[in-house]
Amino acid sequence: MTEILNIGVIGLGVMGQRMLERLKGHDRLRPTLVWDANALALQQTLQAYPQLRAANSAEALLATPGLHTAYIATPPAAHLALANAAFDADLAVLCEKPLTTDFDGARRTIARITAEGRRDAVNFSLASSPGLQALKSAWTDGSLGDWQGITIELSFAAWPRPWQSGAGAWLSERVEGGFSREVLSHFIFVLQHVLGPAEVVAAQAAYPADGRLAETSLKAELRMRGVPVHIDAAVRGDVADVNRVTVTGSQGGLRLQEWFGLSQRLGNDGAWAPVSAASSDQLRQQSQRSQLDHWAAMVDGQSHGLPRFAEALAVQETIEALLTGK
Ligand SMILES: NC(=O)c1ccc[n+]([C@@H]2O[C@H](COP(=O)([O-])OP(=O)(O)OC[C@H]3O[C@@H](n4cnc5c(N)ncnc54)[C@H](O)[C@@H]3O)[C@@H](O)[C@H]2O)c1
Repeated sequence: MTEILNIGVIGLGVMGQRMLERLKGHDRLRPTLVWDANALALQQTLQAYPQLRAANSAEALLATPGLHTAYIATPPAAHLALANAAFDADLAVLCEKPLTTDFDGARRTIARITAEGRRDAVNFSLASSPGLQALKSAWTDGSLGDWQGITIELSFAAWPRPWQSGAGAWLSERVEGGFSREVLSHFIFVLQHVLGPAEVVAAQAAYPADGRLAETSLKAELRMRGVPVHIDAAVRGDVADVNRVTVTGSQGGLRLQEWFGLSQRLGNDGAWAPVSAASSDQLRQQSQRSQLDHWAAMVDGQSHGLPRFAEALAVQETIEALLTGK
């Protein structure tokens, strides 16, 4: 199929802008209509992309004839209502993560998706990454031997990170934001996608005393298919940001680092070496292009590799359990 797929974009903050940039030049996906509750964000987007048209409201956008799909990039609290309105309009939906913290609302939405055969996906950017594929293959073909343990290490110099400092206050607040929902969720998605459900064995999050701001550290242990998963994540101040997931097997290891980087260790004494000659940046670009192709396949009603709402809810259940503590 080569039909152009018209996208209505709701939410034009940091992520909405990044997606508009990524969509430039895609051969099928074409943003056409945009809406943001903030008039300035809307105005600035129209200045940067004069070919776009602004709707007068989210409802008006979703009711516009000719759209094929909605991309929802608002803060999490608005995701479900907007997604349901988009399903009402018979649109395929790509929603940003985290799906929601309203688990009952999510279950009702997933039930209608199933009953009505809706097309739904959540934008976990690692879904189309070589790292996820490598972990999946290693689990299936046994090339790492027995999986003895997994560590997830996250370090932030500051929260929010500088590139997302223009985001709304929600990102630094406990109700919707924090690094566990925003960053850790990507790696929990990868591991649950490969291994299945997670059991929280122990979890301890530390929060500022003000009762308002999000977690500053999280130490936790999960178990997935019997494999222990250790999490050590914190806002550490004056150190470079780190994100690293290391799988240690009896015959070697695999490591995802800085999002799209991928290294392997053959045997237990060997040094870590990159799996691919492509740079981390090239791997990021390939993954992002592939993510868009999966989105187009989802809109076409074809099989695709993006997580659906049910998988994103399972990730969020783990994240919220970690934040609640055990
Ligand atoms: N997939 C990724 O890699 C990735 C990266 C960053 C952010 N995100 C996710 O994207 C979403 C948005 O994050 P952000 O950093 O762009 O936040 P942001 O605060 O920069 O932007 C959110 C925008 O949504 C608008 N908005 C809020 N409520 C709205 C509503 N009901 N209707 C219309 N517009 C509304 C705000 O005015 C704002 O412009 C979050 O869920 C976040 O977790 C995903």
